Order: sequence, then structure tokens, then C-alpha cells
Amino acid sequence: MATDRRSRRAGAGPHERPARRAVKPRPKTHPRPDPLRFIRAHMRLAPVPTIPEIRLYMAHQGSGLWRLGEPYEDGSEPPAPYWAFPWAGGLALARHILERPETVAGHRVLDLGSGSGLVAIAAAMSGAREVTAADIDRYAVAAIGLNAAENGVTIAALGSDLTTGRAPAVDLVMTGDLFYERELAERVTAFLTRCLADGVEVLIGDPGRAYLPRSRLRLVAEYPVPDVGEAVTTAMKPSGVFALEP
Ligand SMILES: C[S@@+](CC[C@H](N)C(=O)[O-])C[C@H]1O[C@@H](n2cnc3c(N)ncnc32)[C@H](O)[C@@H]1O
Repeated sequence: MATDRRSRRAGAGPHERPARRAVKPRPKTHPRPDPLRFIRAHMRLAPVPTIPEIRLYMAHQGSGLWRLGEPYEDGSEPPAPYWAFPWAGGLALARHILERPETVAGHRVLDLGSGSGLVAIAAAMSGAREVTAADIDRYAVAAIGLNAAENGVTIAALGSDLTTGRAPAVDLVMTGDLFYERELAERVTAFLTRCLADGVEVLIGDPGRAYLPRSRLRLVAEYPVPDVGEAVTTAMKPSGVFALEP
């Protein structure tokens, strides 16, 4: 009968279970995959567009990068998997280093915001004395290690944020494509300014992102490169290599 059904649904009557208290659902989380295992299993090792000298583990349509986007237990978002692609700024910088190895030869070099490790690998292949690659994403740190090994070079991969600290003990700091967000760009610019003040040279690779500190840059070279994830033939655009000036 309709009345019975209604009372059952409402949880009324001595034999009915008490209504459940509303519990705020916890965000669904899945454990994030192990970085080394994920990269080896789901990325494709291939020559880099416009930089065939270097091979990287790169994402493709079936990589399932969404699996890395699950929120952490506290609900906060993990960093976007930018390490899974070579970016236009890094491509220009890597091309430049390979064509002019004297830029890095014999120097101690830091690649800040290294992502896949592309710029650091180009520096190591071009005769840099010591190469450090820093990235705040632990998947990037794993990718840097794997990509360095695949290209037969040695790179120290750091998973910490160096932008809040003092200038590191290097001769040259390079950044590929780090000026895409205002807050990050401001912090990176302040860090690079401290590096300059300490006598460290600074080179920036960038296709002209929104927060590039243009008024302080001197164009050193320009290279046509594809933007993130594009094929070489489709969307080539110029990307600059700049020296930061005080
Ligand atoms: C757009 S990607 C560029 C990657 C690489 N340089 C290239 O050109 O292909 C930016 C990278 O910077 C990293 N990143 C963001 N903030 C950072 C910070 N404070 N310190 C180090 N790396 C950072 C991100 O995790 C990401 O891998």
C-alpha cells in the first residue's frame, strides 16, 4: 500500500532502522601511482620534436595522465603533470645549448623548473661540469632521473623549491617556460635577481608567456618550436632565449 511504502521510506515504526545521520562524504582518493613505474609503463620514449639528439619519456593520448590528478587526502590538488611534455621555452633553450655548447661547457649549471629534464640533459651533453635539475613535482624528479639515464648523462635531481632561498653555488641558472602564472613568475624573477646579484648568469627560454619580465630581458637567440604537445609540422612558433639583466 502506498501509505506503508511512504512510512518505510521515512524510517518510521518500531522495526525500522533509524535514519542514518548525514555524514559529509570524504573526497574520493586513489593512491597516486609510483612515479617510476607509471612513467615506464605509460609514457613513450621518443626523440624530442626539433631536438632529435635527445630522447624523453613523453605523454601520448593513452597515457592516462588523469590518474595523477586525484586530490590528496587533505583535498588539495597535486601539481599538473607538466613534466610529461617538453615546453616551448625548454625546447628553445635546449636547442640553443646544443648549437652553442660554449654557453655551458665547463660550468656548474642549475635548470630550475626542469620538468622532463630537457634543458639539464642538453647542458650535460654539451659539456657542463655539474648539472642540477630542480622541480617541485616528485613525478618530474623521477622523469629527470629516467630521462638522464636514457641519454647517458649524469644529473642531480632535486625535489625542493629553491625559489625562496639564496642563490645556489652555480655559474649559470637556466629556466625553461616558468612565466605562465603571476605568483610563480614573481617568485622566480626575485630568485633570479638574487642569482644575478651573486654573480650567477641567468638564461631564460620562453615563447612569450603572460608574466615574462620583458623589460629586463635581452634577446640572445630565437628558434621555431612546437608548443606543448603539438607535432612539429602543425604549430611551430618562435620561442626566445633571453639573458636576464639587472
Ligand atoms: C611549464 S613546465 C616547464 C618544464 C621544462 N622546463 C620545459 O621547458 O619543458 C614548468 C615546470 O616547473 C615546475 N615548477 C613550478 N614551480 C616550481 C618551483 N617553485 N620550483 C621548481 N620547479 C617548479 C613544474 O612542476 C613544471 O615541471
